[in-house]
Amino acid sequence: MDYTRLSDANIITQKYMDSILIEARYIDSVAADLTTEFLGETFAMPVMTPAFSHLGQYNGREQNGLEEYSLAAKECNILNFCGMMENEQFAKIAATGAKTVRIVKPYADQGKVRDQLQYAEAAGAFAVGMDIDHIFGENGYDVVVGEEMTAQTSDMLRSYVELTKLPFVVKGVLSVSDALKCAEIGAGAIIVSHHHGRLPYAVPPMMVLPEIKKALQGKGIGIIVDCGIASGADVFKAIALGADAAAVGRSMLPALEQDGVTGVQDFLRGVGRELRYIMSSTGFDQVSAIDSSVLHFTLAN
Ligand SMILES: Cc1cc2nc3c(=O)[nH]c(=O)nc-3n(C[C@H](O)[C@H](O)[C@H](O)COP(=O)(O)O)c2cc1C
Repeated sequence: MDYTRLSDANIITQKYMDSILIEARYIDSVAADLTTEFLGETFAMPVMTPAFSHLGQYNGREQNGLEEYSLAAKECNILNFCGMMENEQFAKIAATGAKTVRIVKPYADQGKVRDQLQYAEAAGAFAVGMDIDHIFGENGYDVVVGEEMTAQTSDMLRSYVELTKLPFVVKGVLSVSDALKCAEIGAGAIIVSHHHGRLPYAVPPMMVLPEIKKALQGKGIGIIVDCGIASGADVFKAIALGADAAAVGRSMLPALEQDGVTGVQDFLRGVGRELRYIMSSTGFDQVSAIDSSVLHFTLAN
């Protein structure tokens, strides 16, 4: 990590997360249950995989990284995500049997957006969505692997929500303003994220999360957090601050590259074990019971 790049949101986020400390509450506490309800489904824990794309095959193994981590998500019974890809690749991920959310790009070609959303639904996706934080580049609209992106209006997003019977997940929400727009267009869930630091000086997702949680109170929208999530402690803090679940990201890549499906399974289960230990040690026997009263904030705002 280059600590000289002070505008790097990854570093700012890491520092913020690490500045939040956890107090212990042992008396009357019991070993915690990690079972998680999300969008009407029951999962083994509130840990999710990231919406990744463009992973190759590692160490000469047959399946690529996207397929391998999807298999690990299925084995662990957690919600799986995938990102930018053509339908052919999504078909292979769907074939793993993992409950998967397909996050499509904010393509300038709206026909492509619609085609990918409809394909995902037909192929058995658990949910679909879009990463709204990958619209702009320094020359205007970004071009990602040769594909042009474009502005996404509330009306465009609403039309995608209406196109599918599946829950629609907006990824890349980093303000109350966007969170409220997601509620208005009928999104089923949001991912509070800065997409591993696309925006310089981006507010850490966990810093803006409590405001977003408050703004969405009673609206029935699921909230996931990502960026820098690497441990059970990180997941615990995200949930305590208002998320329903957290997604790991680049933290799972070494395990994926090295040992594929079993590597990611072990990594995810390790995150779950630490989460259970912290929940048990702080008096929360259920994921839904976790709150921020055990957190101590050591950074001056
Ligand atoms: C190799 C790679 C590919 C990614 N592809 C996508 C993508 O296609 N769509 C998307 O929404 N996010 C994509 N992301 C972003 C992740 O979903 C996630 O938001 C981010 O990695 C979280 O930050 P972290 O890695 O620090 O945990 C990608 C990230 C990486 C490292």
